[in-house]
Amino acid sequence: MNKKSSQKNTVFVCEACGAVCAKWAGQCPDCEGWNTLSERVRASRKTGKSSSLGPAAHRLADVDTKQSPRVSTGLKELDRVLGGGLVPGSVILLGGEPGIGKSTLALQAVSRLSDMMPTLYLSAEESVEQLALRYQRLNLPAQDLQAFATGNLEDAVALIDRTGARLVVVDSIQTMHTERLDAAPGGVGQVRACAEMLAEVAKRDQVAVLIIGHVTKEGSLAGPKTLEHLVDTVLYFEGDATSRYRMVRAWKNRFGAVNEVGVFAMTEIGLKEVKNPSAMFLSGSHDDSPGRSVLVSQDGSRPILLEVQALVDQSSLGNPRRLSVGYDSVRLAMVLAILHRHARLGFVDQDVFINVAGGVRVSETAADLAVSAALISSGMDTPIPSRTAFFGELGLTGEIRPVARGDERIREAEKLGFNRVFLPLSNIPKGRDLQDDKAGPVHGRAALVGVSHITELQDRLRV
Ligand code: TYD
Ligand code: MG
Repeated sequence: MNKKSSQKNTVFVCEACGAVCAKWAGQCPDCEGWNTLSERVRASRKTGKSSSLGPAAHRLADVDTKQSPRVSTGLKELDRVLGGGLVPGSVILLGGEPGIGKSTLALQAVSRLSDMMPTLYLSAEESVEQLALRYQRLNLPAQDLQAFATGNLEDAVALIDRTGARLVVVDSIQTMHTERLDAAPGGVGQVRACAEMLAEVAKRDQVAVLIIGHVTKEGSLAGPKTLEHLVDTVLYFEGDATSRYRMVRAWKNRFGAVNEVGVFAMTEIGLKEVKNPSAMFLSGSHDDSPGRSVLVSQDGSRPILLEVQALVDQSSLGNPRRLSVGYDSVRLAMVLAILHRHARLGFVDQDVFINVAGGVRVSETAADLAVSAALISSGMDTPIPSRTAFFGELGLTGEIRPVARGDERIREAEKLGFNRVFLPLSNIPKGRDLQDDKAGPVHGRAALVGVSHITELQDRLRV
């Protein structure tokens, strides 16, 4: 197969090194990677309204920084993830595995907004009848929401122009295709070209565009990952598709904080907001079997309590397994090395598994202490006393390092009735005495057990 750039306005770009070629080839001439070239629309060379003086720069101090007002989607959990509501004219990518609830969330999110601005739902995956069925089943208030089933980008853009839409959902980007490229829909070239054109329309006409993209478990499907730099906000659905809980996390946000999480539950009538996620993730975690600990995690602006489970077991393999779900496996290897070197806990001939309950992914280093505690508990076959929570980062020398927002974490644990919190010594708030870890709660407060080295954690867990 020897493809050629079908029209003059396309080029072939190497996905690996970014080299640009006029013709398609099996191997990139620059980085010598195989099958890395994909077709793209050539960037236009128009310089706009440049005068003979050339383009002029702006003095930042003079730029009008009036923030465009945010519009609430009516879903508080989603508003928070967006950074306080939808910014008109912004481009949002909503990614997630098939069946996790992207179309449902999109429909619910735009339903209220469609009363305030002309809104168009473009679907290439479902027919208008299917959309209407879902819409009726969800019992949504929107009266003016318009829908159209097409996978053709040129049609879609024409429709946006004709309807004067200010908010558009594109479901999904993998099923859109532009006539400007020969390639089949779903490939990186088509997905990128379509997203680029949609972003252009968004900026030109101040249309907010919500692009839905499918991601596989490995996150490898052509598409969403390559679009992250093109859009203002990237939201990813997280969670176990088999459980009813769904989390939407901001991975990138030009208008708000990253790592902000919104928690939803999938019900028969769509996604419902979960107001108290800590209680939800901990439900059923009150029995005291060895190998479980509670982490006070701080995702975005809100602390959440999560259950960390560890299983340490004799291995039958020459090379024992180290598997982690929901916690970085490189960090797990590091924690194991620290436990080995500083706490004399080998696990050398044992399989080690870590799981964060509820399909949650913890990306912050403050999880190290809870992971270590769960490992120690499983390794020593001793349960951690109930109503005990942990947070803190582990350093390579075995020291427990302070983490951000200690006060809020402590308050969240206390709010949920935890009476003992293990934390980095320097995270103990000023004015709060270091209490004996055997002391019970004083006036509804938790006993704070400040630890500064992994050996202290080990000693204190033995009691
Ligand atoms: P969907 O939004 O179609 O997922 P995606 O667009 O990410 O592929 O929703 C998928 C699942 O949600 C589907 O298996 C059915 C379920 N669901 C409910 O349980 N309740 C509902 O009200 C709706 C609309 C869907
Ligand atoms: Mg869908």
